[in-house]
This record gives sequence, C-alpha cells and structure tokens, in this order.
Amino acid sequence: MANEDFNSMAARLPDPFRLLVRAHSGSTNDELRLLAEAGTEEGLVLLAENQTAGRGRRGAAWFSSPGESLAFSVLLRPEEPKAWWPRLALATGLAVAEALESFGLEAGIKWPNDIWIRQRKVAGILVESGKDFVIIGIGLNINTLAFPPEIAEAATSLHLEVGRPFLRPDVLGVILHCLSSRRFQIGSEFGALLDAVRLRCVLTGHRVSLLSSNSLKIGWVEGISSAGELILRTQSGIERLIQADEIRLQPL
Ligand code: BTN
Repeated sequence: MANEDFNSMAARLPDPFRLLVRAHSGSTNDELRLLAEAGTEEGLVLLAENQTAGRGRRGAAWFSSPGESLAFSVLLRPEEPKAWWPRLALATGLAVAEALESFGLEAGIKWPNDIWIRQRKVAGILVESGKDFVIIGIGLNINTLAFPPEIAEAATSLHLEVGRPFLRPDVLGVILHCLSSRRFQIGSEFGALLDAVRLRCVLTGHRVSLLSSNSLKIGWVEGISSAGELILRTQSGIERLIQADEIRLQPL
C-alpha cells in the first residue's frame, strides 16, 4: 500500500524499541536470534517485508503475504526471573488485542496467545528464549484479501474484517506502545495482566477439544488460573493446563 512510512513511526517508538526493516528474511525469529547471540541490545524490532520461511508454534509454517501483513520479532532481555518469561506470551497477546481495539476492532484472545476476530485467526505469536534473551515473533494479517486454501477458512485480516486497508506502520507502532507497558506486568502485576486477558479470552464458557501432552481432552473452559493456566473441566475433574495444542471450539 502507498504511503506506508515506517521511518516516521520508528522515530516515535517508546524506549528501548528501534526498528530494522529487511526486504527479505527467512524467519525474523531466526535472524533476530543470531543478532541476540551476537550481543545486540534489547529493543531491536526486526521486520521483514517478505518473510519466506516463517515459523509458527509446534513447527507449523506461518504464511504472511508480502507487503500486506506484519511479520516481525522483538528482542527483549528481561530483568525478571527466567521462570516468568513464558508469561510474555500472554502479555504480547494482550498487547496485540489492545492495539487492535484502539482501531475499533473487537479482538479476542484464544488462550494462550492467538488473536481472533469473529472466530478467525488474525495474528499468531511465537515466543522463544535463549540464555539471556527472549524473542517475541508476531505475525499479523493486515491487508491480505486472499489466503492459501489450507488456511482460508480459519484466517482473516484487518482489511477483510473492516472493509478498508490499514497502514501497517500505524498498527505496528500501537502494538509496540502497548507491549512497552504490558511487558513489565509479568511479575508483581501479573494479576492485573491476567484480569485483562480474562476479559478477552474467547474460550471461557465454551466446550473445547484440545491436545495436551499428546492426549485428546474434551471439556468446558472455566477460565484462566492465577498462574495463567487454562482451567478445563473434563469428565474426570478439573485440569490446569500450562500448554495445549489444536484447541477447537466444540458444538454444544
Ligand atoms: C503461531 O500462531 O503459530 C505463531 C506464528 C508466529 C509468526 C511470526 S511472523 C514473525 C516471526 N517470525 C517467525 O518465523 N514466526 C514469527
């Protein structure tokens, strides 16, 4: 889209964020990991206009349409204990949802951190860590109008939802502003972060099927625990899940 000026947005980013735009990258998470291991300071945001080998969770491929989506990774070097770093996945999902809300969209969080609009996925987040750093990869469909057949049913974009194109630098800038405050809520303020996630959780109150430790579970989602786990009521009782794959809403 014309008039997409990443430079002027980049000049207004909150500390410590700074933007590096690449025309091409295999995976921005992989490329940023190399930079992190070489000692790059925290706050670098690496964005690829054309990401050719994007990775999703569980080794899946991530599709981003060149020039129409956002595919970027953020390098953090959190001071909080490493045990809390996985909470950044929830913080990031919340930041993305809040950013979309600021554009008038009703975004839901499909625990732990897929972003849904009207039951279709608009954004995915891949958080990976190294010895002394975390890389937060975010893929967001902005102006994509057609998806590959295998994800066409499940995916959406901001343009498809609202019926008009969005300026990608504007969306990126707001996400980073939201992340710049939510990232610090993984410690003593985790309760407040969770309350904001709970308000947006699209699974609560629904019957779901999911895979956890390779076993299929079906149950009702009761909510999110104070540790950020998904609370699932199954026939055998209440289970608290740290992670789960392929969560699907089930018909009642
Ligand atoms: C998922 O929902 O499975 C997570 C998708 C994460 C995709 C982003 S795009 C930018 C960054 N680079 C990658 O290779 N993956 C993440």
